[in-house]
Amino acid sequence: MKKHNVNLNVNGREVMMQVEPRQSLGDALRGELGLTGTHLGCEHGVCGACTIIVNGDPVRSCLMLAVQAEGAEVVTIEGASPAIGLSEIQEALREFHGLQCGFCTPGMVMALHHLFSGNPQPSEPEIREAISGQLCRCTGYQGIMNAAKAVAARHRLKNVQK
Ligand code: FES
Ligand code: FES
Repeated sequence: MKKHNVNLNVNGREVMMQVEPRQSLGDALRGELGLTGTHLGCEHGVCGACTIIVNGDPVRSCLMLAVQAEGAEVVTIEGASPAIGLSEIQEALREFHGLQCGFCTPGMVMALHHLFSGNPQPSEPEIREAISGQLCRCTGYQGIMNAAKAVAARHRLKNVQK
């Protein structure tokens, strides 16, 4: 199958991928760029495990073709994590037992990353809405909610102390 060159920005770096026309963006990020933090679960748009940020919006990377990403700005879980240690969202998920097997976690982190980027102090309904497309088969969601609420509360506290 003929491959196509796709130029895009991933986690702040200009990169080029050679992809087949049928290849999903999630598959290409993992296979061509080695960014295996993005998990592919259902591969038909249901579970949300493959969520990444494309041009500022959360996208299910199993539903987007890699060739559609020409010129796009993409952020994956690798780009939403510090080089060393954990982001505040990841740290809160650890602290509040917001993960068990961890399969859903990269997508969950990306959905929360997008929420907190635009709204640092979301309400509980806003958090629920933000993660409503992310399926977790292990946790029952309570630990995830507690983690997200803790991040929001910490932002609120920082704001008061300013
Ligand atoms: S792998 Fe993309 S939504 Fe499940
Ligand atoms: S922690 Fe296992 S699916 Fe969410």
